[in-house]
Amino acid sequence: MIMKFASYLVIFFTIFFHCSNGSNLIHQSCMEASESDPNLRYDFCVASLEDGSSKRQPPPTNLEDLVGMSIQLTKSNATNMVSIISELLKSKGFDQYAKGCLKDCFDLFKDSLSELDDAVVAFKSKDLNTAAIKMSATLDNSVTCEDQFKDKKGEKSPLTKENHDYYQLNVISLAFVQMFHQHY
Ligand SMILES: *[C@@H]1O[C@H](CO)[C@@H](O)[C@H](O)[C@H]1NC(C)=O
Repeated sequence: MIMKFASYLVIFFTIFFHCSNGSNLIHQSCMEASESDPNLRYDFCVASLEDGSSKRQPPPTNLEDLVGMSIQLTKSNATNMVSIISELLKSKGFDQYAKGCLKDCFDLFKDSLSELDDAVVAFKSKDLNTAAIKMSATLDNSVTCEDQFKDKKGEKSPLTKENHDYYQLNVISLAFVQMFHQHY
């Protein structure tokens, strides 16, 4: 009886681990992260990580690689933010107040880029507390960028969608670092 049970277990785990390919890793990790953080949207998590994973050779096959990839995706998003904002700064369609906000956003995302570099280094050396602190700082920066526009009546942020996407990616990376911390 016990032998029979044991052999079922072996079969179960063989199938289970065989099926734990990259996509399962992403689904499971996004599920776990979305349960621990109410701001994290599961669908966005799966979509952005699957997209990132499909462009990576080899794709991440364990949590550590997935967290690393997620931080890198956040960083390339921040790089795009900097160039989008610098394009907006060149255009003439903004009043003085909005220009000031955009300039601040530019500086905030520049800061985020160096904080994300620090996060990459910290994560690689398994200094997970520092990695999480840096990821929280970059999260605050994107919120600060968006909120400035709300401080003046009638002002509308031209970056709402971009900030929102960035925020989601950043939330994912932070939650993943914390999740890795628990597993590690
Ligand atoms: C940031 O990443 C998200 C998810 O992959 C994407 O939808 C969005 O367009 C990216 N934003 C920038 C500015 O690259």
